[in-house]
Amino acid sequence: MILCIPDVLTPGQVSHCREKLESAIWEDGKKTAGHQAAQAKDNMQVPAGHPAAIETGQGILKALSENPLFMSAALPLHYLPPMFNRYSGGQQFGTHVDGAIRNLPNGQRIRTDLSCTLFFADPDEYDGGELVIEDTYGSKSVKLPAGHLVLYPSTSLHHVTPVTRGARLCSFFWLQSMIRSDDQRTQLFDLDCAIQRLAGSLPDEEAIKQSTVQLTGVYHNLLRQWAEM
Ligand code: NI
Repeated sequence: MILCIPDVLTPGQVSHCREKLESAIWEDGKKTAGHQAAQAKDNMQVPAGHPAAIETGQGILKALSENPLFMSAALPLHYLPPMFNRYSGGQQFGTHVDGAIRNLPNGQRIRTDLSCTLFFADPDEYDGGELVIEDTYGSKSVKLPAGHLVLYPSTSLHHVTPVTRGARLCSFFWLQSMIRSDDQRTQLFDLDCAIQRLAGSLPDEEAIKQSTVQLTGVYHNLLRQWAEM
């Protein structure tokens, strides 16, 4: 499942974060890439231990923990601390898959089930810089307003197109979900969406119709998974 989550940060939080990040040190992004990804990667990053990265990252994780849509879709167990990147002057990141296992600062290893990109610059501030995610249904190009986040399976091939004007500033990070399988997590998310819609005060006809379609989908997807013939 690829899901865009609007308004993770308010415009005020976005500008506060941007001020902090702009005064931070920036270094070559190849430093944190594996051998193969390093060949495709051309961007700048704030070093992981930098106070601006730590403080901003904690603010992002707090905002996400209070975001019901994100929590329902990701069912997070462990996070890697958010990192920050900037693309400008034609920089890009060619097609790659994110590494499966990463180390937390305390040495604990986590499995990357979901990748997150949180945008800090609005789309009209730069040209290019689309995050293109390939899945079995084709590719999806994502470029969101500042403060919005995209959540996508870490199993997917993806790339960032060259930034030919302005600068693209983002946070990116990974999480291990309580539910390892993207398929199972998606079914739980669909169930929860239908429940939330129906549990709202006096759901209207449209909400009931949407929920019925969604619940029917979950029924058939579970049947497909469990049926033996
Ligand atoms: Ni990546």
